[in-house]
Amino acid sequence: MNALPMPNPSVYDELLRKFRGQYGRAPDVVAYAPGRIEVLGNHTDYNEGFVLSAAIDCGTFFAAATSAGGECRLMAGDLMHEVAFPVRAPVAAPEHGWSNYVKGVLAGLNEAAPGGLKGGFDALFLGNIPLGSGLSSSAALEMSAGLALARLYGLALEPVALARIGQAAEHRFAGVKCGLLDQISSLYGRAGKLVETDFRTLTVKTVPLGTDVCFLMCNTHARHALVDGEYNRRRQDCEAAAAYFARVLPGPVKALRDVTWADWQAHQGGLGGSAARRAAHPIGENARVLAGARLLAACDLSGFGRLMFESHESSRVYFENSCPELDAVVAAAARTPGVLGARLSGGGFGGSVVVLLHPRDAADVAAVLAREYALLFGRPCETRVIQPSDGARVIADAGTTR
Ligand code: GLA
Repeated sequence: MNALPMPNPSVYDELLRKFRGQYGRAPDVVAYAPGRIEVLGNHTDYNEGFVLSAAIDCGTFFAAATSAGGECRLMAGDLMHEVAFPVRAPVAAPEHGWSNYVKGVLAGLNEAAPGGLKGGFDALFLGNIPLGSGLSSSAALEMSAGLALARLYGLALEPVALARIGQAAEHRFAGVKCGLLDQISSLYGRAGKLVETDFRTLTVKTVPLGTDVCFLMCNTHARHALVDGEYNRRRQDCEAAAAYFARVLPGPVKALRDVTWADWQAHQGGLGGSAARRAAHPIGENARVLAGARLLAACDLSGFGRLMFESHESSRVYFENSCPELDAVVAAAARTPGVLGARLSGGGFGGSVVVLLHPRDAADVAAVLAREYALLFGRPCETRVIQPSDGARVIADAGTTR
């Protein structure tokens, strides 16, 4: 029903098989949403700044069919665990944490539907994004669930409205005060292109990356304690810093987007120590994204790669959202011939490093990075070549939806 090629066909086939096995019929609707990489612009989204990102070539399928009564059954296709909840009042639960993302989306859809959603559903989801890798498996689940369930209930939603529903699910059902980056990237991705987003105006455009370049993701599998708490604290620090700059700068400051590097240099002393360092990161990142977009337009991939290294250094020194595992991969990448740039991707405190390089160098660089990582940490980091890919969409619709 759409002209784009079927993503990850073997996962799709397994999803249909499992759905049939579990519910004894075919789904009415299937949607797909990819994960994302953050290429440049770290922790800038909730500071109303700029990000260059991409949807990736792995993602999550969400299959659903209407059911009699008001109960919803939801199955995680990898674990084959099922949870049930009422369509009108889904409640977050500590057990089966994965279900909270879907329940949160359902809560948002209930608010968007005049009079609330009527009637339950049976659903199963399955994907191939490595969990905890910093590739936004949670946003892929939210966006695939949101697209499938909106279609099932006959709700027409603009992409930005759907992205906000996913973000609200993270805030209210998972406790992470994230921005909109992951959801927007999953929805707006295009094959071979980066997604350039202005998070103040929510203007999204796609920019060509060129065919002679690709990304290598290096998953460290590191996940440091208090990850979500640290993320939320960084956001609070940024908001407090914006309030300080609003007091000391003559122009209006609504968010750190409105503060330049020169402003930071002139006034950071009054903010002091770690608060000043935290603010420096998104302020520098915004400038780097704008410079990076200009370099991409001029086909200067080496210059773009240098900005990626600078971004990581800013994370490490100013925002302190890196960790020894990520730093080791970036340092090894910087020493490896063929690498154009490397940095942590996403929230930080673990997860993956994104490396920019020519496709012909990918296998050699992957082998070097895995080996160097193993020397330090006892096991190799997991590497995977990523191609920027098409965004979320409904894949199949039997036309029997509500
Ligand atoms: C996570 C969040 C995003 C964004 C990035 C950091 O992926 O979900 O909203 O803040 O971290 O840039």
